[in-house]
Amino acid sequence: MSEVGRDPLDFIVIGASGDLARRKIYPALFSLYCQGLLPERFSVYGLARSAMDNDQFRERISSALTCRYVPGHSCGDYIRKFLDRCHYLSGAYDSADSFLSLFQLMREEGGPQLPNMVFYLAIPPAIFVDVARSIGNAGLVRCGGGDPWSRVVIEKPFGRDRQSSDHLTHELANVFTEEQTYRIDHYLGKEVIQNLMVLRFANLVFEPIWNRKYIERVWVDWRENIGIEGRAGYFDNYGIIRDVVQNHLLQIVAMIAMERPKISDARHIRDEKVKVLKSINFVSKADVVLGQYTASKWKDKQRIGYKEEDGVPADSITPTFAATRLYVDNERWKGVPFIIRAGKGMNRRENEVRLQFRDVEDNIFGMGARHLPSNELVIRIQPDEGVFLSIVSKQPGLDVVLEKTDLNLRYQLAFGASIPDAYECLLMDVIEGDKSLFIRSDELEAAWDIFTPVLQRFSEERVMPAEYEFGSLGPAIDRIL
Ligand code: BG6
Repeated sequence: MSEVGRDPLDFIVIGASGDLARRKIYPALFSLYCQGLLPERFSVYGLARSAMDNDQFRERISSALTCRYVPGHSCGDYIRKFLDRCHYLSGAYDSADSFLSLFQLMREEGGPQLPNMVFYLAIPPAIFVDVARSIGNAGLVRCGGGDPWSRVVIEKPFGRDRQSSDHLTHELANVFTEEQTYRIDHYLGKEVIQNLMVLRFANLVFEPIWNRKYIERVWVDWRENIGIEGRAGYFDNYGIIRDVVQNHLLQIVAMIAMERPKISDARHIRDEKVKVLKSINFVSKADVVLGQYTASKWKDKQRIGYKEEDGVPADSITPTFAATRLYVDNERWKGVPFIIRAGKGMNRRENEVRLQFRDVEDNIFGMGARHLPSNELVIRIQPDEGVFLSIVSKQPGLDVVLEKTDLNLRYQLAFGASIPDAYECLLMDVIEGDKSLFIRSDELEAAWDIFTPVLQRFSEERVMPAEYEFGSLGPAIDRIL
């Protein structure tokens, strides 16, 4: 923390006028600012193609800020002071001159002491390399890990398959070292996901039963009750597997399945995740059910189907739903199916992990019931974050009547406090140089290896996803259970 408090920091947002910057980056920086977590000499510099002056830029930022960490009466003051630190420059992304002008602006505003620099590439991945080169050509990237440092932050998609991802990694590495590169998977910044390791390794009760002897199946469920929200240009080129399964949901699998790291630091945690990813057998066509939502009347409103979305070709075969069966082929998990189910246009928004335990072998309580309901540990990532253990219990009364019930940890009730946005935590980690929650290049390779063959096959064979109505549970997945 001392490093953060002392050294000047310039946070440079490339793609400063875009949606990601407005919805996620500025609000997260503002929250950190309100909590006093940013250095005394901290500035934001935005670069984008749009013609805008500083006032317009500040106006744009301020419309997205909310005061969660400071009392209402001083909110306006905080916003004003934060906006004073924000500066904008319009320029082309592929020109070193833009970045030289940016550097000049930084020197004028910031004075002679060289600041640490974070470059956040909030731009489409197709131009990551051009931008990185321009930053490099302008001489803005400092070599080595010493002070003052420069770091780059990028967001998925990191390629469309193993080959294109390797290409991107290789090209970016010409400018930024792996040590300087922070690949965000924003799910790793979510509170409940960060709690997974604590739950497993800070409690004695879970680890002994966290294996194939006791666990029959693991579910990772992710659904949204919205469509693609105007993002056809991106989504139709990627589909649900590349959008959330190969990254967010596979990361969750890795956190659930990994062995205990020797130490809780970036290297050891990521080493263990890579080992898990490398022990996952690559997915075959028989392991996947694909779906695509169609028009329906849902909650009294007419919903359009995927193919009717603006910008989606009428013959698109892009899946908006995928259920995938994975096996982690190691001592702990051999034979236990991990079922990842992800869909847009479904009946509700929900993301949870469910560990389904095996049946109790002997039901000594008889009473006609042959099987007791099996235990389940449910880890709800969102919404209504929580951890629930379903158990069998005796109903109060003179007779022995068994009932399935829950031991509950509801975050809202247990901790009261509002849950920070994933980006607050991740940006803090970038500034502090903690890479535990960022994707290392070998992790990315291993994740692509699992899905690349099947994705290629689906596209070569033009496999048609099964149709499901908007607002439904998605297509049947019995085939892979
Ligand atoms: C993004 C995907 O990575 O995550 C989107 O591209 C998805 O399609 C989003 O809607 C979900 O994020 P969150 O944080 O709202 O669950």
